[in-house]
Amino acid sequence: MSKVTVVGAGNVGATVANVLAHKDIVKEIVLLDIKGNMAKGKALDSWQQAPIDYYSTTITGTDDYKDTKGSDIVVITAGIPRKPGMSRDDLISTNAKIVVSVTKSILKYSKNPIIILVSNPLDVMTYAALKASKLKPHRVFGMAGILDTARYRAFLATELGVSPKDIQAILMGGHGDTMVPLPRFTTVAGIPVTDMITKSKLNKIVERTKKGGGELVKLMGTSAWYAPGAAAAQMVESILKDEGRIFPCCAWLSGEYGVKNMCLGVPVQLGKEGIKQILKLKLNAEEKKDLRTSVKAVSSVIDSFKKMKL
Ligand code: LAC
Repeated sequence: MSKVTVVGAGNVGATVANVLAHKDIVKEIVLLDIKGNMAKGKALDSWQQAPIDYYSTTITGTDDYKDTKGSDIVVITAGIPRKPGMSRDDLISTNAKIVVSVTKSILKYSKNPIIILVSNPLDVMTYAALKASKLKPHRVFGMAGILDTARYRAFLATELGVSPKDIQAILMGGHGDTMVPLPRFTTVAGIPVTDMITKSKLNKIVERTKKGGGELVKLMGTSAWYAPGAAAAQMVESILKDEGRIFPCCAWLSGEYGVKNMCLGVPVQLGKEGIKQILKLKLNAEEKKDLRTSVKAVSSVIDSFKKMKL
């Protein structure tokens, strides 16, 4: 049994903790926020749900990093969310400082944790945490692809009138409007999705997926939390159970897909050590081109981060 810390007790962090507690696979969850009472309150509320929903995972809230001592996995959700009209990249000047400082504080009390980033702009925050932590790249990675494919799968399920359970998909690239959903690698219970839907309908779904986060920001005035929180909890589960599941995650690349020295969404296999392997898909010319566009977009935000010299 293990200890998981979730940094940030906002909507996303609290959801990660709550969904993870429901899985009943962790001994202890610590929810940390600079707003200590908010972390304590949400943790207490979640703990009071345990007798109703039957889990034994304890959840405590804090604003003191000492309480995170000996964490096996740390999920970082700290930072500000988007407001309508903002892109994820607009968050960099605020969130980069927060993520670097959170990562350093975590490392004071946990020697070799696995760190999962959720803060935006996701690909760059993963890069920032990896550099600040000096941990091995297979132990620091980001949650974006599970969320983005979940949106894509949900839209397809609605359009086709099938269960979202039966839709399998993979997606690559940055967590932004240049993300690369891959219809060639999408099936409905094993049947290629391209056999079940017209090209124009599929294109519309691909476009809606790319702007899926923004659609929710427009509706709610802030960014989403249920699916993002559940996606991060699924990564924690997969690591702790060491099932060898394959998900799109934001990982450090050192030559895979012709990309180096940056973090980007790729298919990975997760296990108890973090990323076991990065899977190499045979992309066609159009997919490669789309991926290059995404690499450029993420690189330019990484450059802005580097200029901050944190
Ligand atoms: C989203 C935010 C969490 O895509 O990035 O909803």
